[in-house]
Amino acid sequence: MLTVEKANLHYGAAQALRGVSIKAEMGKITCVLGRNGVGKSSLLRAITGQHPVSGGAIAFNGATLNGLAPYSRAKLGIGYVPQGREIFPLLTVKENLEAGYAPLKRGDRTIPDDIFSLFPVLQSMLGRRGGDLSGGQQQQLAIGRALVTRPKILVLDEPTEGIQPSIIKDIGRAIKYLRDSTGMAILLVEQYLDFCRELADHVYIMDRGEIVHEGPAETLDTPEARRHLTV
Ligand SMILES: Nc1ncnc2c1ncn2[C@@H]1O[C@H](COP(=O)(O)OP(=O)(O)OP(=O)(O)O)[C@@H](O)[C@H]1O
Ligand SMILES: [Mg+2]
Repeated sequence: MLTVEKANLHYGAAQALRGVSIKAEMGKITCVLGRNGVGKSSLLRAITGQHPVSGGAIAFNGATLNGLAPYSRAKLGIGYVPQGREIFPLLTVKENLEAGYAPLKRGDRTIPDDIFSLFPVLQSMLGRRGGDLSGGQQQQLAIGRALVTRPKILVLDEPTEGIQPSIIKDIGRAIKYLRDSTGMAILLVEQYLDFCRELADHVYIMDRGEIVHEGPAETLDTPEARRHLTV
C-alpha cells in the first residue's frame, strides 16, 4: 500500500500541497479528482520523486520514499504515466516501450505480452515513431511503457485528457483488468467525473492544495462533493 501523510510541496514561495494525506491500496483503484490547478499533478510528482516534498511522509509497502530519486522509486515498483504522456517523439514505439527497461535487471528486460493484448494497436505500430501516433495511441503507449517496468502501483495523471471516447473505453477496460488480474494498486488522477465514478473503489477530491472530500465512489454524487468539482 502507498501512503502519503501530511505532504507539503512548494514551488519557490508558492505552496501547491497543504498537508495532503491519501492511501492507495493494492488491488484497488483510487481516484483523485479536482479542478484545474488544485495540485493533482503536484501530488503525483511528490509520490514519484519528480519534485521534493517540503514536509510529510511518503511510504510504499513499508519503505520510506522521501529523499529517493525517481529511478529508485521505479525500482521499488512505482510506475508513472505522466500528464501529457511524454512520449519520445523520435523514438519508435518499440524503443519507447524499451525505455521502461531502465529499472529492470538484465534478465527481466522483455515486453510483457499482456501489453499487446490490452493495446493491440501498439503491436501493429512497433516500428512507427512515437511522434506520428495519435493522442490516444500515445496515451496507450505511455501506459504500456509504464507497464514494462512491472509496477506494483500504477500512477496515472489524467489519462483521458484530449482522448477520443473509444480509446477512453479501452483505457478504462485496461485499468480494470490490471486491478483484477494482477492485484496492482492503481492511483488515478482525473477531471473526468464519469470515468472515475465508473472505475474507482475509493475517491478523494482536492481543492487548492488540500484534500476536501474522501469516500467510496458513490459519494461523488453528494452535493458536498459536487460543490468542489463544479467551476
Ligand atoms: N513548476 C511549477 N512552478 C511553479 N508553480 C507551479 C509549477 N507547477 C505547478 N505550479 C502551480 O502549482 C499549482 C498546482 O499545480 P498542479 O499542476 O499540481 O495542478 P493540477 O491539479 O495538476 O492541474 P491540471 O488539472 O491543470 O493538470 C498551480 O497553481 C500551478 O500553477
Ligand atoms: Mg495536472
